[in-house]
Amino acid sequence: MSDQVGGAWSQLKSLERPRLAELFDADDARVSRLSTRLEAGEGESLRFDWSKTHLDAPHLAAFAALADAVEFPARRAALFAGEAVNVTEGRAVEHTAQRGLGNEASVEEAALLHMRMRGLVEAIHGGALGPVSHLIHIGIGGSALGPALAIDALARDGALVEVHVVSNIDGCALEAAFARCDPATTMIAVASKTFTTTETMTNAASALAWLGENGVADPYGRVVALTAYPEKAVEWGVDETRVLPFQESVGGRYSLWSSIGFPVALALGWEEFAQMLDGAAAMDRHFLDAEIADNLPLRAAFADQLYARLRGCQTRAVFAYDERLRLLPSYLQQLEMESNGKSVTALGQAVSAPTAPITWGGVGTDAQHAVFQLLHQGTHVVPLDFIAVIQPGDALDPAHHRNLLANCFAQGAALMAGKQSDDPARAYPGDRPSATILLDDLTPASFGALIAFYEHRTFANAVLMEINPFDQFGVELGKEIAKQIGEGAAKFDASTEALLKAARIGG
Ligand code: F6P
Repeated sequence: MSDQVGGAWSQLKSLERPRLAELFDADDARVSRLSTRLEAGEGESLRFDWSKTHLDAPHLAAFAALADAVEFPARRAALFAGEAVNVTEGRAVEHTAQRGLGNEASVEEAALLHMRMRGLVEAIHGGALGPVSHLIHIGIGGSALGPALAIDALARDGALVEVHVVSNIDGCALEAAFARCDPATTMIAVASKTFTTTETMTNAASALAWLGENGVADPYGRVVALTAYPEKAVEWGVDETRVLPFQESVGGRYSLWSSIGFPVALALGWEEFAQMLDGAAAMDRHFLDAEIADNLPLRAAFADQLYARLRGCQTRAVFAYDERLRLLPSYLQQLEMESNGKSVTALGQAVSAPTAPITWGGVGTDAQHAVFQLLHQGTHVVPLDFIAVIQPGDALDPAHHRNLLANCFAQGAALMAGKQSDDPARAYPGDRPSATILLDDLTPASFGALIAFYEHRTFANAVLMEINPFDQFGVELGKEIAKQIGEGAAKFDASTEALLKAARIGG
């Protein structure tokens, strides 16, 4: 850590800690100062309200000094320029190029690959591959979480093709999808950046077998491959015309925008998929152009650092007050924890403070009747994100939606205000922070902007902590040991040996 960076952290640690109520009392303009609207498309803005966090003028100034010390503007520029910002793997990181921003050659290549994907999507919609009613999308991690979230959020009014996302190697997951599909009109998408992932390749083989056993004469003819290694898909047996490649520089957990988004385009239609890209691009432009003081993902990262590093909060929770976004917490768990769950800096030195908090969350109002007791009165302080949508997604009595929003806002207010009581069991400490993201409407564009916000926030956090968010070596050891168990080759600790013996697997 440079002296300048160390100095910025020391300055942050030395600051006073007024309560949220004091911050509001001291500044009539606090809400407007810490709330920003971003247009994701016409009439599709998102309001980001960070006023119920402990960010105040001294913290914002000190965090701006930290951003300066870690050369945030240069790091951001390097990301968008397509430089090898994933330093441990020597790779560029180009999910923004999928949305039209970044290194010119990469943007052009992404546009060509999108054209190819569009061609196949529209051919299927046009019936060129025969009737297609269902798609079983097989992938895991970043090759499944984004499509599952986007389709669940945006295709509720009816999908052009019904998509079932299957990730787990547990055969129960695939069997559940089989039970809902007609083999004669079902296609299989095999989504894997590397085209080697055990779960995906095992599920893909079983899906092919299911087609074959159920009267489909040419099962491979029903398969689409989504991968950064097209040659592996062809070698596996997929016809080249149904292989949709994407660039190696698109990371798995950032790959929704690439051909991994094929099921989204198939379910929603190409126009809607393109609007999702445009919404994300609106956030990209904001992140790229906005000054440090006004930059939404960076401001959110300042608050994240304040809680994780300065106040020792070990977790952060996201509550979507919208059923359509119920999968958002699991999506964000991979995005944030696989990116920033690190113990060394980008230069390989041990970090001197906690990195990513544990991301968790759920859907409101359900969570209020399950976990909110701890949030209001427990000993942990958990900074929260609330996400809500003004326009209802349902056509029922408007009382449903009014009540949903009222509950969302009530929780933020209650957590902040707390309540005194002579009875300790009935007292609420208050001063508990939350941020609120309020969408005008949940559309492909506002959804795209929301997800891009979280991507850039994750990156901004990594820059402030000087870690590399783009590798994930931590997932490898367990995979290796599972392989060794499968091969029956190695000896393990006594507990593991006993478990293997009890389950009668392994050597
Ligand atoms: O195991 C972690 C991981 O590599 C994720 O980063 C990735 O999203 C997932 O596995 C799936 O990988 P692939 O798309 O190569 O099958």
